[in-house]
Amino acid sequence: MPLTTIMPILKKAQNEGYGVGAFNFINMETLEGIITAAESLNSPLIVGVPERLSSVLDINTLSDMALSRIERSSIPIALHLDHSKNFTNTMKAIRFGFSSVMFDGSALPFEENISQTRRIVEIAHAVGVSVEGEVGYVGRDIDAETLNPDLFTKVEQAVEFVGKTGVDALAISYGSVHGIYKGTPHLDFKRLDDIRHAVDVPLVLHGGSGLSDSDFMHSIELGISKINIFTDISEAGVAVCKDMSGNKLELALLMDEIRKKTVNVVEEKIKVFGSAGKAW
Ligand code: 13P
Repeated sequence: MPLTTIMPILKKAQNEGYGVGAFNFINMETLEGIITAAESLNSPLIVGVPERLSSVLDINTLSDMALSRIERSSIPIALHLDHSKNFTNTMKAIRFGFSSVMFDGSALPFEENISQTRRIVEIAHAVGVSVEGEVGYVGRDIDAETLNPDLFTKVEQAVEFVGKTGVDALAISYGSVHGIYKGTPHLDFKRLDDIRHAVDVPLVLHGGSGLSDSDFMHSIELGISKINIFTDISEAGVAVCKDMSGNKLELALLMDEIRKKTVNVVEEKIKVFGSAGKAW
């Protein structure tokens, strides 16, 4: 099936009340594992490349590989650049053929986040690429118990940001954290509900790894359409390397174990998010 943007995938999810996983990959095995899982469950899919790792990942090679695999797939798939903080890399990703980019200006002053995101939206939309923006702070590897709610997304800022930038999807902060959770996350569902009632665009939950099934299901019920997962995939691959490190083995077999573990992680999440059987 030809590549799609995130829009038909997320609009259908929004209308029918399920979530779609955006799973990050870093090589052939993680890409293949993610797509195999979604194909086996007939789920729409978003595959992402984490821009923050661009010093060790060749985004052009990864996108060439993904685009050719997506073309041969039976399900709708979007290729997404995740968390780009860099204008040049965002433009390169569009040129390489990504159908969607996230520009993460959440660490910038609010007005600057608006102006930089709007500039990306103007360029991306001119060539049919969708854009996700972010308002509010989703930290990394920090204690989920002691998060400062003042840094969560404010309803008025979400409204202003969507109106002034024209983003297609909005990542919000209501208590999740990227990476491995320290402490138990306490998601602010009231805030999510308030934001959902104030803006129309699909909403995105970052920091999916480590949240409970009930956190996911409640978030989806209240209007989350896209859920980002990466650490679970990364940790599963690292565990394979540790477990097999004492064995005498071929690299290709080790890599294939990583692919299989990726399939397991992704299948489990797709079932919880409710997107199985929703491909068209
Ligand atoms: P995790 O790595 O915590 O799953 O978060 C993924 C994410 O939000 C990528 O944007």
